[in-house]
Amino acid sequence: MSELFRVEDVRKHFAAPAGELPILQGVSFTLQEGEFLAIVGESGSGKSTMLQILGTLDHPDSGTIHLDGEPIHQLTSNRQALLRNQKIGFVYQAHHLIPELTALENITLPLLVQGMAATDAQVRGRELLARLHLSAREAHIPAKLSGGEAQRVAVARALAAKPRLLLADEPTGNLDEHTAQEVFTLLRQLCREEQAAVIMVTHSMAMADACDRMLTLRDGVVCER
Ligand SMILES: Nc1ncnc2c1ncn2[C@@H]1O[C@H](COP(=O)(O)OP(=O)(O)O)[C@@H](O)[C@H]1O
Ligand SMILES: [Mg+2]
Repeated sequence: MSELFRVEDVRKHFAAPAGELPILQGVSFTLQEGEFLAIVGESGSGKSTMLQILGTLDHPDSGTIHLDGEPIHQLTSNRQALLRNQKIGFVYQAHHLIPELTALENITLPLLVQGMAATDAQVRGRELLARLHLSAREAHIPAKLSGGEAQRVAVARALAAKPRLLLADEPTGNLDEHTAQEVFTLLRQLCREEQAAVIMVTHSMAMADACDRMLTLRDGVVCER
């Protein structure tokens, strides 16, 4: 296995009425290709802030972030948008699917944005739906999907373009325990098959234990376990 992602001394603060609010105070870690990493930490510890920065959706105050050796924190915002479209997938606690589009259309949209032919995008979309046991739901709009089904569609959409890295912020946080476990198991299996590395924020110790590695975010830094 070789190194995919390197985070070095990332710092971030927010301005607050009482003065500066330091959130990240020197986050450093590396991730190997295909590795499934769990991030745990108390509510408000900065997990979401960290994930947004790692995914180039927010800027760090300082520090460096390399993906495949490329310093992604230094790219222009246009290049970052391209990078996200090609190399980074996102899944959030809420599915954020487009309400007017069917499950299949939600999955193929990022591929069409990339310029893939519609027929090829549909082949890829249907393959993912099948692997997530959702073939019978391809024409459903999100309102006609259960919570677990909608989250699985969000996973398929995030992986459609074969990203090297998936960033997942409490992807099962809105689901009941049984459904959460089901979605997590499928997510884990699919990412392994697709050879996507994952950074997943979770409050579930059981899920974190089932990942390759666990980091705890506390007092603005991450430590093993
Ligand atoms: N845009 C923002 N402006 C000011 N404070 C923020 C902003 N985003 C997050 N925070 C604060 O940063 C802290 C960490 O938030 P967050 O990253 O969402 O934590 P977590 O995901 O671990 O619960 C919280 O205290 C939150 O209020
Ligand atoms: Mg959060």
